[in-house]
Amino acid sequence: MEIRLDGKVALVTGGASGIGRAAAEAYAQSGASVVVADLDEAGAAGTIAGIERGGGKALFVRTDVAQEAQCERMVAAALERFGRLDVAFNNAGVMRAFGQKLHESTEEDWDQLMAVNLKGVFLCMKHELKQMLRQGEGAIVNTASAMGLAGTAKSVVYPASKHGVVGLTRCAALQYADCGIRVNAVCPGLIDTPMTRGMRQQEANYDETRRKLVPMGRIGAPEEVAGAVLWLSSGAASYVTGIAMLVDGGWISR
Ligand SMILES: NC(=O)c1ccc[n+]([C@@H]2O[C@H](COP(=O)([O-])OP(=O)(O)OC[C@H]3O[C@@H](n4cnc5c(N)ncnc54)[C@H](O)[C@@H]3O)[C@@H](O)[C@H]2O)c1
Repeated sequence: MEIRLDGKVALVTGGASGIGRAAAEAYAQSGASVVVADLDEAGAAGTIAGIERGGGKALFVRTDVAQEAQCERMVAAALERFGRLDVAFNNAGVMRAFGQKLHESTEEDWDQLMAVNLKGVFLCMKHELKQMLRQGEGAIVNTASAMGLAGTAKSVVYPASKHGVVGLTRCAALQYADCGIRVNAVCPGLIDTPMTRGMRQQEANYDETRRKLVPMGRIGAPEEVAGAVLWLSSGAASYVTGIAMLVDGGWISR
């Protein structure tokens, strides 16, 4: 089944890079107009140019998802340009304090990770939902992580922020299930993006060790997460809400 979102408007936070860029491209290829929200103007310009080269429509809105006024403006800008909001992929995230034990992690690590990864998803959903409630329908996908479903000794604060995203997703799914709005999360395993490239280069043999842990024997590509996001965003998933979908090559199921 080919997934089509013709005439729909899709918003992607963190759309300047990695998984967000792949999802923005997938939305555009499926026929949606795309709003790319990010702090990284140069990266976002690259995403927009790629979409426009393919004949799609896209708008960049510079947004810090940790700031409520900016999330509100992001949704307003989408409405101003495209008139509606059908799909939102709340994906912007940061990684820090990875490899640190809890007693080594700082209050600043906690505050920054929670501000972007968890509060950012809450603030974006809050303003997206207001519009979706007016429309009487919508689909939201939040980026959690395989580390939002399983514990790890590698880190504490980042996984805690992602467990929060899974909880936020499940509760919101229940609150809006009878309003025509579906809310799901995607939980990537190790994906080859700028976020993980630095971390992987710091540790000798990281990729080799990880490949042995992943039943499929490889690291994932951003496009493989985007495929799951596109499906969750579409009518093909019309009876799916409140799930946290692993896209991890089998890592957490082993
Ligand atoms: N790559 C992986 O292996 C992996 C695994 C699990 C979960 N994730 C999650 O996937 C999401 C995307 O990560 P990625 O791997 O594509 O990383 P990435 O670094 O390539 O992309 C993240 C994007 O988020 C943007 N961003 C950061 N802070 C922001 C803010 N305050 N406001 C708006 N935009 C902001 C960045 O500018 C960047 O464009 C993140 O939430 C990440 O935690 C990634």
